[in-house]
Amino acid sequence: MVKCWFDYKTVIVSGASSGIGKGLVKRLISDHGCRVIGIARNEKKIKAQIEELGDKAFYFSYYLFDVSKRENWEKFTKEITEAGIKPDILINNAGILPKFDRFDHYTLDYIERAININFYSCIYSMHYLMPILLQSEDPGIVNVSSSAALCSIAGTSVYSASKAALKSFTEAVREEYRGKCYFGLVCPGFTKTNIFENQNTKDNSARSQKAMNMVTTACEKMVDNIINGMWNKKANMVFGADAHMMSIGNRMFGVTVSNLSSKVMKISGLEMFAAVFSED
Ligand SMILES: NC(=O)c1ccc[n+]([C@@H]2O[C@H](COP(=O)([O-])OP(=O)(O)OC[C@H]3O[C@@H](n4cnc5c(N)ncnc54)[C@H](OP(=O)(O)O)[C@@H]3O)[C@@H](O)[C@H]2O)c1
Repeated sequence: MVKCWFDYKTVIVSGASSGIGKGLVKRLISDHGCRVIGIARNEKKIKAQIEELGDKAFYFSYYLFDVSKRENWEKFTKEITEAGIKPDILINNAGILPKFDRFDHYTLDYIERAININFYSCIYSMHYLMPILLQSEDPGIVNVSSSAALCSIAGTSVYSASKAALKSFTEAVREEYRGKCYFGLVCPGFTKTNIFENQNTKDNSARSQKAMNMVTTACEKMVDNIINGMWNKKANMVFGADAHMMSIGNRMFGVTVSNLSSKVMKISGLEMFAAVFSED
């Protein structure tokens, strides 16, 4: 029996091999009977995902490619079309968090790569897949942005910009397709996933970890929030106490919040923020 608008639908999830994407795949299959097409690069992680799905693995298929390259989306669209797959929903979730650092410490190549993964990948996927998605009776697109799009803090210039671009893009396109397609924009706060793996540095990683644990939301909880938000066709979804604080704080106090965050980051003495405020 159909209880929810996306029960038994065909859903494409990018970033399906880890964290939030992996959690969404599991919930969409086990609770909603969806057929899920996962996208990621790491086959070992995807295979572990299949193991975990057990007898439900039948509902999962995957494609391995780099989402930041437009030709990969073109090829993927062609392949699923030829295979007769008719997706109803696209969840653009793949993303990376560049190392916390000051803008001029990043190379231009690094910046372009991060923006291509976090932002252009969504433009490409929507460009190629929307004509097919719009053939569905009840299509949907969910873009996973970040609380960093709501309030920028030092050390996240490139990440915040990529996610703010995704937010603005989604909000504009939503209006262009109002009544024809559901658009969900998710702005999660810190969530406990592997995305922080490359942030911790050797000497105080335990302290960094402890600090992260204090502010992060459990991944299962974040996935639960996103599933509930999608169920109710919520337009903008801000999840996590830190995300709400950033959102409200930025609207009420503007730059004061970014400035206060810098002070907290400096006082924390955490190695992961050191390069942001270094003198060189
Ligand atoms: N965790 C947080 O605190 C947080 C907060 C706000 C927003 N978000 C956003 O939530 C989304 C999911 O993040 P997460 O925390 O679940 O991170 P995660 O555990 O590191 O997972 C990231 C996923 O993206 C995939 N991915 C990364 N680069 C890719 C590329 N170039 N091509 C294809 N797939 C790629 C990874 O797959 P492979 O490694 O297999 O390629 C992996 O499946 C991201 O967009 C992130 O910005 C996360």
